[in-house]
Amino acid sequence: MKAFKVLAIVGSYRKDGVIDRAIDEILASAAEEGAETEKIFLIDKHIEFCTNCRTCVEEKGLRRSTCIIDDDMSDLLEKIEGADALVLGSPMNFGTVTAVMKRFIERLVCYAYWPWGTHIPKVRNREKKRRTVIVASSAAPSLIARLSSRLVKLLKDASGLVGADPTGVLFIGCAAGEKHQDIGDRARKKARRLGKRLVIHNGPATWHPCRN
Ligand SMILES: Cc1cc2nc3c(=O)[nH]c(=O)nc-3n(C[C@H](O)[C@H](O)[C@H](O)COP(=O)(O)O)c2cc1C
Repeated sequence: MKAFKVLAIVGSYRKDGVIDRAIDEILASAAEEGAETEKIFLIDKHIEFCTNCRTCVEEKGLRRSTCIIDDDMSDLLEKIEGADALVLGSPMNFGTVTAVMKRFIERLVCYAYWPWGTHIPKVRNREKKRRTVIVASSAAPSLIARLSSRLVKLLKDASGLVGADPTGVLFIGCAAGEKHQDIGDRARKKARRLGKRLVIHNGPATWHPCRN
């Protein structure tokens, strides 16, 4: 039987940082439920900036179009499309996702149809084939950071573009106390719950705001 694949995309610059540790918990819990897991750090990939040439958004169609830039993005998107569930994680830097995560998100424009002369892009395919857990961290307390920024919304939008529905958010505040900070028991428990949920609830994706 084909294994259930969970792929994590990490937008943190730090291995063994808070985001990395939280994602490890989620993946470990998913693995305990029988999933095959993989973690990709965006800093390890060659991803160029979107140049707004608009070549990839000009062609009509449900399938994402090909970017003319020859880097690791195309392989990464193939991996994402081959995954059954995703984890998307980024620390909050200057009130939003890290630059490396933003660079990745801008390249997701290929999932939209947006020829010159039209005001707003149209998402090519709104079908949600997989689920996502979103992980974020901030130096500020989580409630303040979450309410004062668009970070979670940005990661949810990115997840929607790649055909995934967010099933939960883990936001870890006060994450800059020590260089290699433990994520704490509460976050660890939630990470484990979310990892399990990613694998167990793999039917049609639904988003329950009151549960998150
Ligand atoms: C350049 C930079 C900008 C940051 N901006 C913010 C911010 O706007 N708000 C905040 O709460 N924390 C901010 N932080 C703190 C990081 O969010 C925190 O160190 C991070 O969540 C820890 O994640 P990591 O261990 O995976 O690196 C910033 C850190 C850096 C290096």
